[in-house]
Order: sequence, then C-alpha cells, then structure tokens
Amino acid sequence: MTQLHHLLYTSRRSESCTDEGIKALLNTCRSNNRKTGISGVLLHSDYFFLQYIEGPECIHQLFEKIQTDSRHQEVNLINFGPIESRAFPNWQMGYKSVNQYKVQFLSNVTEEEANYFHRLLRGYPAEANSTPLRLLKSLFPRI
Ligand SMILES: Cc1cc2nc3c(=O)[nH]c(=O)nc-3n(C[C@H](O)[C@H](O)[C@H](O)COP(=O)(O)O)c2cc1C
Repeated sequence: MTQLHHLLYTSRRSESCTDEGIKALLNTCRSNNRKTGISGVLLHSDYFFLQYIEGPECIHQLFEKIQTDSRHQEVNLINFGPIESRAFPNWQMGYKSVNQYKVQFLSNVTEEEANYFHRLLRGYPAEANSTPLRLLKSLFPRI
C-alpha cells in the first residue's frame, strides 16, 4: 500500500488575493486533488491561510508549487511526515473562513490550545504538536 504523508503550514494571504480568488483557488484544489488522491482542509482569514494536506508522497511536489504561488507569502511549514491513516478522507479540500483572533471551535478546547491555534493562524512560529490537527478535526466533522 502507498505510504501516506501529511503536511501543515501557515502563510500570509496576499493583499491581491480576493474572496473571488479564493473561490477559484478552491475549485483548482478540488479538481486537482481528486485526481492526485490528496485530501485536506484550508482555513483562511482576511490575512492568513492555514492548510493541512494529506495523501501520497506527491504532496511534497504540490507543496513546492504552493510555496511559489503569489496568492500568499511567508509560507511556514509547521508539521510534516508519514501518517497511518487520513484525518479528512472525504474532503478534497474542506474550507472555512475564520477570524484569526476568535475561531468558533465546535468541541471543548482548553485556553492553552486555543491560544496556540490563534497564534499559529497569525503566522507566529510554532512547535510541531498534535493540537492543530485535533482542532482542525473538530472544525470539520467527519462526513
Ligand atoms: C493557500 C493555497 C493552497 C493551495 N492548495 C492547493 C491544493 O491543495 N491543491 C492544488 O492542486 N493546488 C493548490 N494550490 C494552488 C497551487 O499553488 C497551484 O496554483 C495549482 O496547483 C496549479 O494547478 P494547475 O497546474 O492545475 O494550474 C494552493 C494555493 C494556495 C495559495
């Protein structure tokens, strides 16, 4: 069986990247990711992106491409590595618009976890840990 990989990064949204631009981006994500067997989720605020991608090793080639995309800058890789199973098997690219200061979590989240996540969303460097994935899972219910 093909080994699955994941990666999580944050980036600063370019001023020129409009909400219409994000809609077009999501269409590209969904059609490309369906073909390449990639799943994941994308959060965006007025100023930042946070994306979790999972799938075969080709996610690394995709990440190279994503890093040069002019719709964002300051791409900051937080977590990456092999995984046993997908966290978002049914999302070609789940998407949510969030307030980077106050995400509405759907599960119980400690103040420490919420602070970590908000700092991440605002582009602060962060230690890799399992909090972002757990919180992302709670924002995107299993479908
Ligand atoms: C924040 C962000 C997330 C992206 N995520 C994906 C993605 O999950 N899949 C994808 O194919 N392209 C993604 N892209 C777009 C790529 O940078 C690139 O434009 C696209 O893959 C090119 O597709 P094409 O070769 O079909 O034109 C993303 C771009 C940005 C700015």
